Amino acid sequence: MGADYLTQLFGLEGQTAVVIGGAGVLGGALCRGLIQAGARVIVADLLEEPCQKRVEELQKMGGQSSYVLVNATSRESIESLLAGSLQHSDRIDILVNCAGVNAGDDFLDAKDEDWDRIMAINLRAVFQACQIFGRHMIEAGGGKIVNIGSVTSHLPLSRVWAYSASKAAVLNLTRNVAQEFATRGVRVNAICPGFFPAEQNRKVLTQERIDNIMRGTPMKRFGEPEELIGALLLLVSPVGGQFITGTHINVDGGFTAAWF
Ligand SMILES: NC(=O)c1ccc[n+]([C@@H]2O[C@H](COP(=O)([O-])OP(=O)(O)OC[C@H]3O[C@@H](n4cnc5c(N)ncnc54)[C@H](O)[C@@H]3O)[C@@H](O)[C@H]2O)c1
Repeated sequence: MGADYLTQLFGLEGQTAVVIGGAGVLGGALCRGLIQAGARVIVADLLEEPCQKRVEELQKMGGQSSYVLVNATSRESIESLLAGSLQHSDRIDILVNCAGVNAGDDFLDAKDEDWDRIMAINLRAVFQACQIFGRHMIEAGGGKIVNIGSVTSHLPLSRVWAYSASKAAVLNLTRNVAQEFATRGVRVNAICPGFFPAEQNRKVLTQERIDNIMRGTPMKRFGEPEELIGALLLLVSPVGGQFITGTHINVDGGFTAAWF
């Protein structure tokens, strides 16, 4: 009954989660949600100082947390992330792929370097992390992977066309990897957030764009990072979400439901 029932469905006591991009705005909220649900959280991100700050925040909440630096553009670095994480925990039960970058440009001015950088972090890193952590999870007896897509997984947004292409591919990859792992104890799903002001999209959120976003969002507001936690806890829950794989949850105030 009550809290006991919720703990049985969604509690993460004894589970270890690695959050790639955990020092960022949305990754931070996801780390806090995992900690609140009882998981140990390993923050994985590019720079030491933001990782330290995140870990301090999670420890102050009473949770068990540590960090391992990673550059998600490199397979070797993701392999080292797994090895480093296994210094903190016997096994990794949950992986959240939340690193991401964005760039807004006119299509005809776009640079190959921007395309390559966005694809490397937003897409290739997700492939590599699913492979490296997925293999570990299969050998360890199971696990859960959540990839972060976007409304652009469904709709190509103007100016952020490389980002949109990367996020559409993340969703497609999520479904495919879910099929690969379905009988091997690893569930793979995605969350597709709508619009949440953060570091990576600060430069592309012009006033004109904000007006367009508000027009297209039935709930007429931006999302708050903590509003992603419910979706995450469902997808990583050992019992509550145990028959859910190869799908996604939109957390977007209705953006993808609206025509105009
Ligand atoms: N904010 C939004 O409105 C929104 C909407 C939809 C999807 N998303 C996605 O959510 C995720 C988190 O974005 P955010 O808005 O919190 O942005 P953010 O910039 O606050 O966080 C992104 C994090 O990724 C990390 N990162 C970047 N490159 C990396 C690399 N090479 N290796 C390791 N870490 C790296 C950054 O250091 C940062 O901590 C991204 O995948 C983003 O595309 C964000």
